Amino acid sequence: MSADQLLQAQRYQFVTILGRSSVENFETILDHLLAWDLLNWEEYETVKLSRHLFSSSRNLLDVIICKGTRACELFIVVLKNIFHSSQLSGLLLMNYNPPEETDKSTATSLASQTLQKRRPDLVRKLHGRTAAVLALLHGCGHFSKYECDEIQLPIYTPSQQARKLLDLTKGKGDDAAHVLLEYIESEPGPIKLVLDNACIKYQEKLSSTLAAQSRFLTNYAGTENMCLEDVYVNCILEITNTTSESGCLRSLIGLEDIFGPDGVLNKDADVVLIIGEAGSGKSTSLQQMQQLWATKQAFQEFTFVFAFSCRRLNFIDTEVSLRMLLFEHCCWPDDHQDEVFQYILDHPEEIMFMLDGFDELKFQFTDEERHCSPTKPTTALNLIFNLLQGNLMKSTKKVMTSRPSAVTAMLRKYLQKEITLKGFSREGIEAFIKKCHSNTSNAEHILYFVEANSAVHGLCHVPFFCWIVSNCHEQLMQNSGDFTQTMTDIYLLILDHFLLHFTHNSQGVNEILQSQIATILHLSKLAMDGLISCNYVFSAAHLQEAQISKEDISLGFLVHSHSFSRAWTANKNKNYEFLHITIQCFFAALYITISDNVGESTLYSLFKSREKGTSSCMMSAACIESFPFSCLQSNVEPERRRKTMLQEAEKSNLQITANFVSGLLSGRHRNLIQKFSGIPKQSKKYKLVKNYLAKGIEKHFLSIPPAVGEEKKSMHALPEFVWWIKCIYEMQDNDLAKQAVSNLEVDHLKLTYCGIGPVECTALAYVLKHLKNPMGLQLDYNSVGDIGIEQLLPCLINCQSIYLRANNISDRGASKLVDQALGCCNLQKIALFHNNLTDASAQNFAKLLKHKKNFIALRLGNNHLTAAGAKILAEGLKQNNSIQFLGLWGNKVGDAGASAIAAALENNTSLLWLSLVGNNIGSEGARALALMLKKNTILEELCLQENNLIDEDIEHFIEGLQNNSSLKVLKLSNNKITKKGMEFIVTALKHNTTITSIWLGRNQMTAMEIEEMTRAERRLTF
Ligand SMILES: Nc1ncnc2c1ncn2[C@@H]1O[C@H](COP(=O)(O)OP(=O)(O)OP(=O)(O)O)[C@@H](O)[C@H]1O
Ligand SMILES: [Mg+2]
Repeated sequence: MSADQLLQAQRYQFVTILGRSSVENFETILDHLLAWDLLNWEEYETVKLSRHLFSSSRNLLDVIICKGTRACELFIVVLKNIFHSSQLSGLLLMNYNPPEETDKSTATSLASQTLQKRRPDLVRKLHGRTAAVLALLHGCGHFSKYECDEIQLPIYTPSQQARKLLDLTKGKGDDAAHVLLEYIESEPGPIKLVLDNACIKYQEKLSSTLAAQSRFLTNYAGTENMCLEDVYVNCILEITNTTSESGCLRSLIGLEDIFGPDGVLNKDADVVLIIGEAGSGKSTSLQQMQQLWATKQAFQEFTFVFAFSCRRLNFIDTEVSLRMLLFEHCCWPDDHQDEVFQYILDHPEEIMFMLDGFDELKFQFTDEERHCSPTKPTTALNLIFNLLQGNLMKSTKKVMTSRPSAVTAMLRKYLQKEITLKGFSREGIEAFIKKCHSNTSNAEHILYFVEANSAVHGLCHVPFFCWIVSNCHEQLMQNSGDFTQTMTDIYLLILDHFLLHFTHNSQGVNEILQSQIATILHLSKLAMDGLISCNYVFSAAHLQEAQISKEDISLGFLVHSHSFSRAWTANKNKNYEFLHITIQCFFAALYITISDNVGESTLYSLFKSREKGTSSCMMSAACIESFPFSCLQSNVEPERRRKTMLQEAEKSNLQITANFVSGLLSGRHRNLIQKFSGIPKQSKKYKLVKNYLAKGIEKHFLSIPPAVGEEKKSMHALPEFVWWIKCIYEMQDNDLAKQAVSNLEVDHLKLTYCGIGPVECTALAYVLKHLKNPMGLQLDYNSVGDIGIEQLLPCLINCQSIYLRANNISDRGASKLVDQALGCCNLQKIALFHNNLTDASAQNFAKLLKHKKNFIALRLGNNHLTAAGAKILAEGLKQNNSIQFLGLWGNKVGDAGASAIAAALENNTSLLWLSLVGNNIGSEGARALALMLKKNTILEELCLQENNLIDEDIEHFIEGLQNNSSLKVLKLSNNKITKKGMEFIVTALKHNTTITSIWLGRNQMTAMEIEEMTRAERRLTF
């Protein structure tokens, strides 16, 4: 289909993509079209005039389609340049060449024409420099003062100002255009100007403020003063690289590389988002970045760094301008405020904004209200939303953290890249415990204990849990690890730990809890009211209303909220927050379980499915307005109010609270809770919750569509499924787990991209081990890791296949998996594509092949196996006659490895499919494989794409193919084969009737040769 037909046929999709994009993206597209002469000025103005992006998009498509096929091709080239491939994934698009570079003509063309030809590049380069260029042009007499002011009107974004400047300069003629181009040439990239005194002073003040703020970890404030530097350990940061040839590959990066070129989804956006689950270390990572900048250890390309906590931004209730936000709520310049602010505006590329906890904002992100003025006040939220969109301070770097649930499609449009924070690795846990305990033998003792208790080890993958475990190790070891299994167990430990410290006595846990019941009730009421109104910072008034005394505070669960506002400091206003939001959730759960006020409807709202809810994560304005925090404290119909508000409260915190409620109601803790509240209502709450969980899971199963035709019945679980499973695990009720899966009748359970880490693996295994019939478990693209593998082992017995693509699994994890697999007769397929396996794993897989006589498929693509590993694997292969699929794509087995595998397959009677794609195989390997084909009687598909095969290597296949009667498909695309090689194949095929197709695309042949060959042999595929 030609490009104009493509545009016409998919007009609706194109309009939707363009219409839903941002104005900035749309104008950048127009820049390219102007530069390539695809639009004239009249058309440009007409297209731009429409008020809505959707109608502009329609106009633009009409104009382009009228201009013929080549114009449509170039338009598609521009779209591919500007949009990320995932945004265009629903479209059928071809690859076209961009226009030829016309260096010579550019050199000879007039300066004003150059402005147009280089428009996209110049718009980018003029960012933040418009004021300087205007001053220059004004100085040379090209621009009047009025024109300069007009261009710099704050209603225009920096890119729009740059475009206005270009358009006006073009109108002024060649001389003006020369001045502008010379200026840009003389300053090719953003350069850091020598700071004047006022800025230096401000930089010093800002860095000492940030250094002081980030020095200590806030959640330690109640118990100890722990320097970040002393305990900080690198977490796992993962980035998705979509530019890779082999599709979406994920790689690990360091905190200092987050602004690097990897993983960029949208070049025009400048927000880097770090997502991670509760307690995974997002706030701590930003704190570390602040510390590194403030102490000059990293990020020195930024002159100023402004850090904000979204939780505290909720508290700004007056309108503020950008200037006020930076100066009054971050750091005040002691003198020359105007100059400092102007410097900030003029040098956006030297500024970094940090926004922590985007999920904690009370309102959902919207791009409806545009605000471009840095000095005009608006709500703090609107300022933040416009900063993210680039309407304000475009080209500044923004790094933001959030839990996954708050990231909406609308927000994604403005993200440059997404990085996933995955907590501690195995080594990270070890390093953290060693850092927390300077006494080496103590540290080793704790580590030994943690590693020996699988569930505790799994929990430690989440840094906050690891902190609790490390802090409470004494109680933990006294209890013996067996008792500590769940998240609730861990949080009860910390409760116990703080109370012990506080009371300084050696009473038993139950006695302490009972003696402190009043305090616990006060804190839990405060937590609950905060949870349902999305409030995580509490003023003195809030505390007073919740009857929180000084004594209650000194227990350590409430810590000072950093006062970032000058106004607040002046008022000596003391605000508090729970030392971690999950601690607030835990107290809210305590309230729900022990308070007599909480009835069935509150529990129901907490456990009801939110998968299809409209406001899935943040409150609607109406709800906040109708239920201000203070009204929660009154006694009017608390149950009804709570129920309504729970429906709107932040989803991820509600789910965590529900996990804790399940845990607290579990048989193991029921006695404790009952003693606590003195009322025997818990069994009723327990029955209710158990019922909700069983029903929730059942509903999920009922929604699974029946299998189509011969396909297997497969279920793609939603993230909520994992939450239910976690609640069941927290309850530690085997009957419930059994009941939950008793109706699950699927052949394949798909849990890809579900945020599954070791903690979730523990819960999954707890439930899935009760499955009646074995099934396939697909866990691709999660963070299972080696620790998670250990957690999964108990349910492996019920798995026919296990898929663990891209899960950070190393040889250690693979070895545990294989050991367990040997005893699981149902397990027949293992897929470990794109992990960190090396030759050290080969021995294990060889063992698996040797001993597991019913094993069918092993996929180890994209790992780090070399010839040595392949040779060991081949030994296993020789002794196995059940394996049908072996995938080694993207390793480095080379000629020696391929030869070993080929030799092992000569007499094999089971393998149907072998992939050695991209393995650096050349002549020697090819010869061995060709020889194997001569003898092998079973292999049906051999994949050898992306190797180094040349014509002479193909010659060996003639004999192989002529003597083979099983091979159906031979894939040789992307090698170095020419027409000569192809002729060998045609010759070979004359005597082979089994082959159905030979893939030969992307080799070294002309279009004519391809046509000729296709005519000669129709089984060749290009
Ligand atoms: N990299 C780290 N090194 C050492 N300790 C860490 C690290 N990351 C997190 N922690 C510990 O875990 C605690 C919780 O981490 P943090 O507050 O950063 O989690 P979070 O991802 O921001 O959670 P939330 O989603 O609730 O905001 C920290 O206060 C600290 O004790
Ligand atoms: Mg946080």
